[in-house]
Amino acid sequence: MAQIIGSLCSSHVPAIGRAIAQQLQQEPYWKPFFDGWGPAQRWLAQARPDVLVVFYNDHGLNFFLDKMPTFAIGATPEYSNADEGWGLPQVPAFRGEVDLSWHLVNALVGEDFDLTTCQEMRVDHAITNPMQLMFPGPAWPVRIVPICINTVQFPLPSARRCWALGDAVGRAVRAWDSDARVLVVGSGGLSHQLDGERAGFIHRDFDLAFLESLVHNPRWATQFDTHQLVEQAGTQGVELLMWLAARAALGDGATRVHQSYHIPISNTAAGLLVMAPAG
Ligand code: DHB
Ligand code: FE
Repeated sequence: MAQIIGSLCSSHVPAIGRAIAQQLQQEPYWKPFFDGWGPAQRWLAQARPDVLVVFYNDHGLNFFLDKMPTFAIGATPEYSNADEGWGLPQVPAFRGEVDLSWHLVNALVGEDFDLTTCQEMRVDHAITNPMQLMFPGPAWPVRIVPICINTVQFPLPSARRCWALGDAVGRAVRAWDSDARVLVVGSGGLSHQLDGERAGFIHRDFDLAFLESLVHNPRWATQFDTHQLVEQAGTQGVELLMWLAARAALGDGATRVHQSYHIPISNTAAGLLVMAPAG
């Protein structure tokens, strides 16, 4: 059966793609952020994942406001990237792990999760950022299954529901008939708000409490409803739901492999948390 070797949660910001494209990693603004990724890259080289299940939120590249699934999953051999309007160079397409996609579709629908199944799917900076940060080499060494959670258009799924989704994904991955080493990724957050009166809002204390909770008391954030999450983390900070789902997939206990937290990157509190299953 497949093995979940860990969970890696990361913020995403289009400017990260620009910094990589322009090789600004050593610039004073960027150095602390990219230095935070060194230990994660070294852990990945040792952990050698074959397959990534990536919880992420699309920002209008694949789904627009006219058609907005609450949960969607990719089931296609290839996921291409495209310019979202930031003018960033397109990165090479990602290979899909189609067998795991269909296994997850069957398992999740079998557990009453109503997912939209996508046999065509373009992926945005929420996928390209963590992929480029995890694997700076010339080719992607893994196959992926993207799972998209709506954080763009209200109403959003609750933290409670995202935990349940992640938990079901984790159990289904562990029941997948494969010897693959699977890493579960969460891409989003941490606290940020891009528009409105509180544009630029960052909430360090909340972020650090959330990071701590994922290791020691992982259901902590499920106590908050959507409006409370917006209040605490900002309108776009609700993207932290991806971290919650990715942590739930890991199972009961987790150990912290690496953590980094840097304020700000663009308008966002940039966090990184790598966890391994306990024991
Ligand atoms: C920024 C953050 C995001 O999560 C995003 O999707 C786009 C932009 C930002 O801070 O600039
Ligand atoms: Fe985002």
